[in-house]
Amino acid sequence: MWRFFFLAGLTCLFLDHVFTVDDVKKSGKRELVYLQLLTTNGFHAPLSLYPNDENTEDDWPEGMGLLTKLGKLQQYEMGKFLRKFYHHFITSDPGEVDAFSSFEDRSTIGLVTLMASLYAPTEEWEFLPGFKWQPTVLCYMEKKDIHDWNLAAVLSAMRLSNGFRPPPCATISFEMYKQDEEYTVRALFFNLTNPEMGADQDPHPLLLEGCTEYCPLASFVRFFAPVIPEYKKLCGKKIKDPEDVDMEAETTLIHMYADLKAWTTPLPM
Ligand SMILES: *[C@@H]1O[C@H](CO)[C@@H](O)[C@H](O)[C@H]1NC(C)=O
Repeated sequence: MWRFFFLAGLTCLFLDHVFTVDDVKKSGKRELVYLQLLTTNGFHAPLSLYPNDENTEDDWPEGMGLLTKLGKLQQYEMGKFLRKFYHHFITSDPGEVDAFSSFEDRSTIGLVTLMASLYAPTEEWEFLPGFKWQPTVLCYMEKKDIHDWNLAAVLSAMRLSNGFRPPPCATISFEMYKQDEEYTVRALFFNLTNPEMGADQDPHPLLLEGCTEYCPLASFVRFFAPVIPEYKKLCGKKIKDPEDVDMEAETTLIHMYADLKAWTTPLPM
């Protein structure tokens, strides 16, 4: 069984993991079996100065377009918070995670910074005793799709855009639960204005039209089918009809999430 974790936005990350006996749930309990996180970058320097800008490039020592110290702190604190929030699911085993970032340097740096705290090693993973950092594999998303990768686009695909640009490090999590043989998906939105404060966040549940907080997987897939370009091509091999989704729940969802970038449509940044 896959356990799959994907963190994206302008930065992203994947995880796969073979379940052990310990992971087998007791009957009747709703258990998180799959998690995907999409996240935006922390605060970064402007891409360029505007005419008559009082600031000079020297005012942005990290470089134009790159994360400032504040932005790095935001990413780091967000990773720490997410680790705490999902402590029952995320371990510090670096083999369980695949992390993806877009090609922009700020995304790579943001991802490295976030992973530093999200996958800070517990003692068994430390390669230097007491050193609370470990390397993890990072990958890039396909270049052609980068431009349309952003959180606001995902929110608008969910018809849940509140019209505002998401704050730094805003994150959407998609949690897939299994209860007996039933799959449900819950989506949460973490959008605190000042993630650098490291405060606990009370996420907003993102309720799809016609769905409850724990949305039956079949309804979830049905909701997204029209907004996923080439849906048939992506998912058609596995499901002829979204009604059949429970049969192939995990495979389907993994495919869906792997191609999540296809949900998004170009939006101005
Ligand atoms: C966070 O998202 C919720 C739900 O869309 C919205 O009501 C709230 O205003 C947002 N907060 C910020 C700081 O963007």
